Amino acid sequence: MSELEYVMRAKGISRVYKGEVPVYALKNTNIDFKKGEFTAIIGKSGSGKSTLLRILATLDRSDTGELWIEGKDVLKASDKELAQFRRRRIGYVYQDYNLFPEYTSYENIVFPIHLDGRTEDPDHIENLLNKLGIEHCRNKFPHEMSGGEQQRVSIARALAASPAVILADEPTGNLDVENATKVAEILRFCCDEFKQTIVMVTHDNGIAGYADRIVRIVDGVVSEEA
Ligand SMILES: Nc1ncnc2c1ncn2[C@@H]1O[C@H](COP(=O)(O)OP(=O)(O)O)[C@@H](O)[C@H]1O
Ligand SMILES: [Mg+2]
Repeated sequence: MSELEYVMRAKGISRVYKGEVPVYALKNTNIDFKKGEFTAIIGKSGSGKSTLLRILATLDRSDTGELWIEGKDVLKASDKELAQFRRRRIGYVYQDYNLFPEYTSYENIVFPIHLDGRTEDPDHIENLLNKLGIEHCRNKFPHEMSGGEQQRVSIARALAASPAVILADEPTGNLDVENATKVAEILRFCCDEFKQTIVMVTHDNGIAGYADRIVRIVDGVVSEEA
């Protein structure tokens, strides 16, 4: 398989949290992602899932190894260069939505585009609101919406810039079954329809079932599920 078919490749990634007792959260880990593939990452609490996801999202840097995203050697990039790359090519979804409480849904969704010094395409945003079933939330503030609606707004924000890769850290962790299913279906749709690469951490086997591939992480080391 050629390099280009992999949208993201991590080689020899390690991350130590220094402290009185150092925590070796990731240990010389390798993991590759093909374009348009939906991967679920599972593993016990404390196994290193969030650490891995934050490194893949370029929100945190590994201590060792290489990370290639769309052919770019991202760990060699400056912080400024990386921030721009992240805003344009990577979408991130948090378990607790992470919306600005004083902004409406629409303002939250377009925030990263404005931060990047650009103007949103209103048709694209309307399309996203429709696809995610949150048109009625356009002018609502986070406290005026259910958890399921807030999470769909946060997914719309992650999708607004049409990123190549979407990383989601337990996106259904705070949702009931019905809303969790909706979120998993939306991520599946992004993968099937837009060939976006999805990486989702989950505790829930049912939700992991929406993925093409399940990867387990044990004590900071990744292994493929049979
Ligand atoms: N900022 C941090 N400082 C110190 N230790 C951390 C920090 N973040 C995570 N850890 C530790 O690193 C290990 C992996 O954590 P994490 O990646 O959050 O695991 P998971 O998401 O699988 O629960 C755990 O032992 C955790 O306590
Ligand atoms: Mg975690």
